[in-house]
Amino acid sequence: MSTRNVTVIGLQWGDEGKGKVVDAVARSCRYVVRYCGGANAGHSVNVGGQKYALHLIPSGILNANTRNVIGNGVVFDPPEALHEIDDLLGRGVKIGPENLFISGAAHVVMPWHKLGDKLIEQSLTSGKKIGTTARGIGPCYADKATRSTAIRVCDLLDEAVLKEKVQSICAARNATFAALYAAEPMDAQAIFAEYLAYGRRLAPMVCDAGTMLRAACKAGERICFEGGQGSMLDIDHGTFPFVTSSSVTACGVPGGAGISPKEIGYVVGVVKCYTSRVGTGPFPTEQDNETGQFLRTRGHEFGTTTGRPRRCGWFDAVAVRYAAELSGVDELGMMLLLDGEGQLETLRICTGYKYGGRSITEFDPTLPLERVECVYEDLPAWQEKIADVKRYEDLPAAARRYVERVEQLIGRPIGLLSVGLRREQTILHNSKLDKLG
Ligand code: IMO
Ligand code: MG
Repeated sequence: MSTRNVTVIGLQWGDEGKGKVVDAVARSCRYVVRYCGGANAGHSVNVGGQKYALHLIPSGILNANTRNVIGNGVVFDPPEALHEIDDLLGRGVKIGPENLFISGAAHVVMPWHKLGDKLIEQSLTSGKKIGTTARGIGPCYADKATRSTAIRVCDLLDEAVLKEKVQSICAARNATFAALYAAEPMDAQAIFAEYLAYGRRLAPMVCDAGTMLRAACKAGERICFEGGQGSMLDIDHGTFPFVTSSSVTACGVPGGAGISPKEIGYVVGVVKCYTSRVGTGPFPTEQDNETGQFLRTRGHEFGTTTGRPRRCGWFDAVAVRYAAELSGVDELGMMLLLDGEGQLETLRICTGYKYGGRSITEFDPTLPLERVECVYEDLPAWQEKIADVKRYEDLPAAARRYVERVEQLIGRPIGLLSVGLRREQTILHNSKLDKLG
């Protein structure tokens, strides 16, 4: 088992603050690897007074010595990636074939995936809409599973292969979309030319990422695996069907990066001190009221990818404990520790659900979550400002009590606490992260 590598995943419904944790971990890592999802992710990193919103580019890109890898499990969106690359270059970030590597085996998000994502969502009745990010994620993974209609990054580098695939797949999609949604046809020739050009520009960065990472493991170099989304959005273990289309937990790392399961390393589960969710689907602790408003405003809870206001609610210890068990989490990172700002006197933690007269303390992904009732434990909030606190001991007693209760309920230590957006606004408390082999 590797004790060097680090896997950073979200334990809620995404947007837990994984980007900030990865940025912190990346400073001691040779590689940062995305293994799931695609441009549906929105990871914010704040460095030197500048905010960077990353979607496809791994969050290690702001560390000069880190190699960033887009693994085979990612669905890769060329125009989005190039847009991000150009934006970073324009802001003086070094980015090129020395520090960005794209797996040739990653699947490509094509224009018909994005169009299909929108058309399918529009056609669903309100209770059935997933509320996707409209980035074509689900349709691209669907084609990966279908196989005959898929295009991989390696195909962008072969003109004849790409031409044949784009022509045949586009013609089939045009027929389906016209019949089902009366959609205008897409121009296969224009798409072929556009994606061939993307391939030419990206070619120097395309590689056999799995082999490279396995060699890095053998050579004893440290790798950080950067999760996208959150465990409750996992295709297998989340609140299906209101989930994303990939394996986002630590269980998805070996498959999505091409490494042995023994190399996952130390697993850090990231949570917010409350919960947010964007898109539709059940959310037992949601506060569709003044408390939810307060959390949204205070935590700037608006989507990095879509700008949508996020739904907010209390911390759900049942869901988080389940997610922590599933991924074998070693330590928690708690982000967005907020004071009550004179408006919030109590913080609630959901410690169980009630359903059909039964008490439930173990999360089950087949539970009709929209019908459970939450059992809460109340803890006092704190009003002191904590944004400049550097040491755990200097946090208000009520904040420490909240942190320690969460540790007890989840059965894992909270090694890292974030009290603000900046890199320096991070408190390490009994974390093993700086002591890994
Ligand atoms: P990060 O990495 C929060 C949600 C969408 C929708 C569902 C399916 O920033 O934490 P999709 O476009 O993936 O088919 O949408 O999943 N979702 C996220 N929510 N954070 C994310 O990523 C998300 N990625 C997808 O809102 O409910
Ligand atoms: Mg996000």
